[in-house]
Amino acid sequence: MAHFLTDSPKDIEYAGSLLRGGELVAIPTETVYGLAANAFNEEAVRRIFLVKGRPFIDPLIVHVLSLEQAETIADTSNPSVKKLAEKFCPGPLTMVLPKKDCVPGIVTAGGSTVAIRMPRHPIARKIIESAGVPLAAPSANPFGYVSPTTAQHVQDSLGDKLEYIVDGGECDCGIESTVVFVGEKIEIFRLGATTREEISACISIPVGIAKGVLEATEERQLSPGMLKKHYSPNAQLVLLDDAKSEFPALFDKFHGEEGFTKKVAFVSQKRLGNFAESKNFFWLSESGDPADVARSLFSLLRKLDSSGYEKIFVEKSSNDGIGAAINDRLSRAAAKR
Ligand code: TXA
Ligand code: MG
Repeated sequence: MAHFLTDSPKDIEYAGSLLRGGELVAIPTETVYGLAANAFNEEAVRRIFLVKGRPFIDPLIVHVLSLEQAETIADTSNPSVKKLAEKFCPGPLTMVLPKKDCVPGIVTAGGSTVAIRMPRHPIARKIIESAGVPLAAPSANPFGYVSPTTAQHVQDSLGDKLEYIVDGGECDCGIESTVVFVGEKIEIFRLGATTREEISACISIPVGIAKGVLEATEERQLSPGMLKKHYSPNAQLVLLDDAKSEFPALFDKFHGEEGFTKKVAFVSQKRLGNFAESKNFFWLSESGDPADVARSLFSLLRKLDSSGYEKIFVEKSSNDGIGAAINDRLSRAAAKR
């Protein structure tokens, strides 16, 4: 079991000194919890991969406080960097930029670019400040499983491999940052909590989704968050385009005289009055607000997993704004193993 630390000045200082000294600490951010290490300490970064069971070919995001700190590890001279940073940082946007030599190859999977993010969560910021070094941090979950949005989620799936988790409550966004490549072209490598529409408006040109993102495989990938199968619960997920009309037939199919014949769950985007009283029916938000859906998505998937559901039918979100990222996570979670 890992120890929980709080946001008290004493604990923050302790977390910072652990990180500086090469220990791993799970930390809250506004998106999901991260498993952090001093980005300059190769041994500590190696342990991140081992704890998560993550392949070494999958590069990590480095978390910094400011654009000035980003400049110490990456080339930030592309004019779009400043524009994007002014609009979205600190916040759930990660920029892939040319790396500087001081960043160890293990962080970037040997590549010439480094992913940089400035989290806005006050505890994450205090911890980076206290550590005094940039922090490499992937999501704090076993590789391929659902990302954690509470300290308890981290404890549940990595607690036996970790010593410290800073508890910052529930994450505000609930899904990961948007990863955007900022070079000659600007392209989205991973859909996330900052929308494609917002990014396009900021740089005044439509931003595309990098080719391959939607059909990446283990062998060929630009950014492993694009793996077809990722973010997956143990239960089998089935996505529904038109849940309201499909739920009644599915209900009949799995419901016999004695109740449900299988551990099956039905999940809608918003509360559906006619089903709300039924056991096995869940909703991701009261009103269907996509920000609420994003906040509760991973939490509900984990809850259904731990309640032993074998099959989960989920209503898709609308495909605009943050809905695109919600559907991205849902379709990867539903992909065949
Ligand atoms: O919201 C987030 O981004 C969270 C919090 C903890 O900051 N972090 C996170 O990290 O989701 P991770 O490792 O689970 O996902 C990072 C994604 C992966 O898809 C990885 O392949 C991609 O970013 N990535 C990292 N460095 C990259 C690079 N240099 N080039 C392309 N993709 C990169
Ligand atoms: Mg992850």
